[in-house]
Parts: sequence; C-alpha cells; structure tokens
Amino acid sequence: MTDDRQPKAPVMPADAIETVMLTSAQIRERVAELARTIDHDYEGRDPLLIFVMKGALLFVADLMRELRGNFRLDFMIVSSYGSGTETSGSVRIVADLKSDIHGQDVLVVEDIVDSGLTLTALLDYLRLHSPASIEICTLLSKPSRRRVEVDCRYVGFEIEDRFVVGYGLDFDERYRGLPDIAVLKTPLTAGME
Ligand code: PRP
Repeated sequence: MTDDRQPKAPVMPADAIETVMLTSAQIRERVAELARTIDHDYEGRDPLLIFVMKGALLFVADLMRELRGNFRLDFMIVSSYGSGTETSGSVRIVADLKSDIHGQDVLVVEDIVDSGLTLTALLDYLRLHSPASIEICTLLSKPSRRRVEVDCRYVGFEIEDRFVVGYGLDFDERYRGLPDIAVLKTPLTAGME
C-alpha cells in the first residue's frame, strides 16, 4: 500500500529555533538507558507510573515502550496557580488518578523539573494516599532554577536555564510535537522566565 499523504509540515519554523539542545537520537538513547535502570530497580514489583499532563506525554509513551517490567499507567492533570510564567507552588488537581495508590509503588513521570514547586505540591498530595513508595523520573532538570529541593531518583538530562520546547514541552501550547528539544530564539520567549 502506498502512502499518498502529504509530508508533514514542519512543527516549528526553522528560524524560530536558536539551537537544538537535544536531538531525537540523544533522547531515544537516554530514555532507553533510564528504562533499563528503572526495570532493574523495580524488578519483582508491580509499579504504577503516574505521568503529569501534558508535557510528560511523549516521554512516558517512549519510556513505556522501552520498559520490560509490568508497569501500570495512570495520569494526572494539574494546573498551578500563579502568573502563568512562574509556578506558584499551589497546584490544583484538574484530573485526579483513577487508581488507588494505597500500598503501591509509585513512579511519578515528569517532563521537566524547574522550580520544583509543582512536584513538591504533587508529592505532598500523593503521600496523603499512603503509597508504599514514591519516586520521581524526569526527563529534564534545571537545577539552577530550583526553589525547593526535590529528590529526583531518575533524571534524563540536567540542562542549563534556557527556555526549551519540543518532545512534549510547549511555548504557549505550541511545538510539543517537535521530535528534538530546542531552544527558542529570545524574542519569542522574552518575559517568560
Ligand atoms: C511544567 C512541567 C512541570 C512544571 C515544572 O508544566 O510539566 O509540571 O511545569 O515546573 P516547576 O518545577 O517550576 O513547578 P506546565 O505548567 O508547563 O504544563 P504542561 O505540562 O501542560 O506543559
């Protein structure tokens, strides 16, 4: 069968990118490494992956494909109160879990940890439900932006403080479908950080 669809239009105009920070190949390789480590650490257990919409969607999909263990999946939608450019630290649960996590091994999957406020609030909430264990796996971490310490057991890449998009991360809801992780040109992101 022939594929007569038109080639996909570029997700992002080339002149909007300052630089590609992480290529899709680098991401794929690191996601596979993380999956091997996680498989090893959770061997013999029946963990629940909880990913945080929307940024972690692509990451968790690729991570699940690499994992060999019997991982279950659930998600939450959270929204942080605040100005829109800075996380405030209070998160509103827009969509809660379907699963009961009491006594469960929970692995929270995020796309990025920036100030750490979202995850801190989320973990406080999840701990109210008494999971057996709770760990964090994030694709990206910006340590220089941290306002509260968050103990992330699995980190894909520590990155410098640049505004990045792609592979699930957005700018004003755009560019999530870019296969690489890229830095936007400054005029686009002025005032965002
Ligand atoms: C991003 C990211 C984390 C949070 C991290 O979500 O997915 O949840 O910000 O920031 P923090 O460490 O400073 O709290 P965002 O609010 O952009 O929503 P999205 O995942 O739907 O893009």
